[in-house]
Amino acid sequence: MKLTAKQIILLSVYILIGFWVIYTFTRTKNAGEIVLSLGAGTEEVKLVKKLIHEFEQKNPLIKVTLNILPAPTDQQHHHYLTTLGAKSADIDVMRIDTIWIAEFAAAGWLESLGNYIPAEDAESFIPITDKTNIYNNTLYAIPWNANIGLLYYRKDILDKYNIPPPDTWEELADICTKITAFEPMYGYLWQGKQYEGLVCNFIEFIGSNGGEVFDTEGNVVVNSPQNRKALDFMHDVIWRYHISPPNTPSELMEESSRHLFQQGKGLFLRNWTYVWDLCQRDPAMRGKVGVTRLPRFAGKEDSTSVYAGWHLALNAYSRKKEQAWKLINFLASQRVQKELSSTLSWAPTRAALYKDPELLQKLPFLTIVEESLNTIQIRPNLPYYQWISDVIQKHVSRVLSNQTSSEQALQTIQTKIEYMQNEFTQN
Ligand code: GLC
Repeated sequence: MKLTAKQIILLSVYILIGFWVIYTFTRTKNAGEIVLSLGAGTEEVKLVKKLIHEFEQKNPLIKVTLNILPAPTDQQHHHYLTTLGAKSADIDVMRIDTIWIAEFAAAGWLESLGNYIPAEDAESFIPITDKTNIYNNTLYAIPWNANIGLLYYRKDILDKYNIPPPDTWEELADICTKITAFEPMYGYLWQGKQYEGLVCNFIEFIGSNGGEVFDTEGNVVVNSPQNRKALDFMHDVIWRYHISPPNTPSELMEESSRHLFQQGKGLFLRNWTYVWDLCQRDPAMRGKVGVTRLPRFAGKEDSTSVYAGWHLALNAYSRKKEQAWKLINFLASQRVQKELSSTLSWAPTRAALYKDPELLQKLPFLTIVEESLNTIQIRPNLPYYQWISDVIQKHVSRVLSNQTSSEQALQTIQTKIEYMQNEFTQN
């Protein structure tokens, strides 16, 4: 049978599609290919790509592919629940939020790393990271970047009014009211949307009034007078003092609040260490921004921040564990950490870097981070942390959006967490 030209073209197209389908469905990762999964901003991705290139040159038999996720922690968490829940080997190394470690480890998704890391290397990290990375006496993640909440402020504007940055929340509210009467900007920007960031802000507000969610024995102590005062204050900065935007409970997250600040629309901003670098890169902000510790309530000794690092873990289902460990080892090395801190203003996890003269000169918050590590709060390292977080998010958000009182919200949070604690400890 003789085929016409049109039939030959059609046949070739079908054959090509056939090959493509077979290739797509049968493709497995090449022998030396590993996948690094992380959620990150543009500058972070740029540097990580450069580091990967360096790693590949040193390890020519390993090729690293990036799996880039959205930056918000909740969205990344969702991604891992689906992929790791399906026992997928498609990811080898993951940059994980410290709050997932107990949950993922208890589910059997993380490789235990105690046998990979030499003891003297493990000891070179800041001690707080043991509290988040060790679960059931087993090490599950290697510290990559530390992180704490800081208070950024418009130094140029405070200078104009000859006012120093505040020590207490009461002073902050006062300064905001005074200055925003003359300057067209919001006073205080923070993360009030219903998501994990709200839990961080809540813990910091209550911590700076001497309050906690759990006491040191693990009892739930969230329904306390000091927490009520702190939660009322979170509500009042929006609705009573009008120093935070009215869309704080519906929209403000890390990036939305940072954008407002960089657009000149905020006097103070609570955010993580990465914001320092972005303000230095921004010609409109360079030289105008100062950074200090978060305030405390009047009469209290100390402010507090949550520990909010992102650490490197190895997927228990990975089929390239040896290569994956090499990558973790490289990325968490002191040399690479210094570059990450110096370029992206990440707080390092290697203790020695807190004494590094170059970093001390470049990162004005480094001593604050080091000192804050003494009073820092860690979110409970429990496999059911996500449930606790959901309850806090929901009920704190109801207060911020005027749907309930702080008294009612804290009572509900207390009862629900106690109930969960019972459920999980009995089963
Ligand atoms: C940052 C912190 C992380 C926290 C999250 C909340 O990414 O590093 O620990 O859970 O913000 O939005």
